[in-house]
Amino acid sequence: MTIEALCLRLPRRTRASPSQSDPLRKWGYARIVIPVCDRYPMIATTATAPSISLAAAAGGGNLLFRQLFDAATGTFTYLLADVPSRQGVLIDPVFEQHSRDLSLIHELGIELVASIDTHAHADHVTGSWLMQEATGCAIGLAAVARAEKVTLPLHHGDRVSFGQRYLEVRSTPGHTDGCISFVLDDHAMAFTGDALLVRGCGRCDFQQGNAHTLWASITEQIFSLPDSCLLYPGHDYTGRTVSSVVEEKAFNARLGGAATERDFVGHMENMKLPHPHKIAEALPGNMRSGKPREAQARPAWAPVQRSYAGLPELAPAWVSAHQQELTILDVRGPEELEGPDGRISGSLNIPLPELDQRHQEIPTGKPVVVVCHSGSRSALATQQLLKAGLSQVANLRGGLSRWNAEGYPLTGATAL
Ligand SMILES: [Fe+2]
Repeated sequence: MTIEALCLRLPRRTRASPSQSDPLRKWGYARIVIPVCDRYPMIATTATAPSISLAAAAGGGNLLFRQLFDAATGTFTYLLADVPSRQGVLIDPVFEQHSRDLSLIHELGIELVASIDTHAHADHVTGSWLMQEATGCAIGLAAVARAEKVTLPLHHGDRVSFGQRYLEVRSTPGHTDGCISFVLDDHAMAFTGDALLVRGCGRCDFQQGNAHTLWASITEQIFSLPDSCLLYPGHDYTGRTVSSVVEEKAFNARLGGAATERDFVGHMENMKLPHPHKIAEALPGNMRSGKPREAQARPAWAPVQRSYAGLPELAPAWVSAHQQELTILDVRGPEELEGPDGRISGSLNIPLPELDQRHQEIPTGKPVVVVCHSGSRSALATQQLLKAGLSQVANLRGGLSRWNAEGYPLTGATAL
């Protein structure tokens, strides 16, 4: 098949080239899917300029890997990035954890090329649409799911590329008919969604689930991987985070050891599980790739970004441009305000040790931006004000030190 013919089969926002090695040729051909982000600027890499070594953050290797967890739904989200190019992909993001995931991507300076889901989840809403809005990344999901907003409709044998690395797409239906697993190019890791869990597997009693199909998916597509391949599931509810092919072949409670397809199907068809309580909300949301209904969309009071430490922060540029609409609260000691570091003109001073008793002095009706020398004491002050009931409050990212470094004025500054 020619490059042109392949391109014709791909959506507008992707480019393709023929596969160089094709271990999955029995299904036709392996497309290399390279997400192209042409609609939004890459704010993920500009909001916080890369200032740390991604190689060091990756532990010295050329692949960064992070496993994230949503405790409310027991869902794992995975971030993978190619160190030399800083390009990354996010697997199975959770809507409610969007700001956490985005802040990690910002802080590591990763250029997110795609947010990809293993299936249309029934227990939580994906964060993929939010991530596309924030970074311009592509949204990937199995094409058979036919969800809206998907820009990378994925098929068995596709490859999702990020820098020099890629994930193979393997079709693993049975939990749903659109389940896919992502296998790292060197077969060292696989992300199995709900097809295979640690010592278990996804249920097969709704969303076109089928136990016979799931048996075939796991035994042919996952257990065919090397025994040493690490398996990262979509969920766990008891603190287990990773498994391996060799372990699951031996010990999986439903299909490991000597279990046959008949044993497995007999187990799955008699589980009598309760209906998932969030399915009525989650499935329609996931069929929009996590885009909220218009009525739910509320403009934020400011482009607040939550740091990976969990703190709402604003960039100096935005604070400077909106200074007249804000209360700038400086929580340094009075001697610092009169010292060589200077102060932001018009700021209100309540030293951090006095904030608990004096926060009623902060004028109401205006959002509050908290500042100190480096952003450390103001971080604590921001948390105190949030606890005290203020809703529109954020920390100045990097404090007055960064404010000054970016060229914004300080009254009386001689030292910063
Ligand atoms: Fe699921």
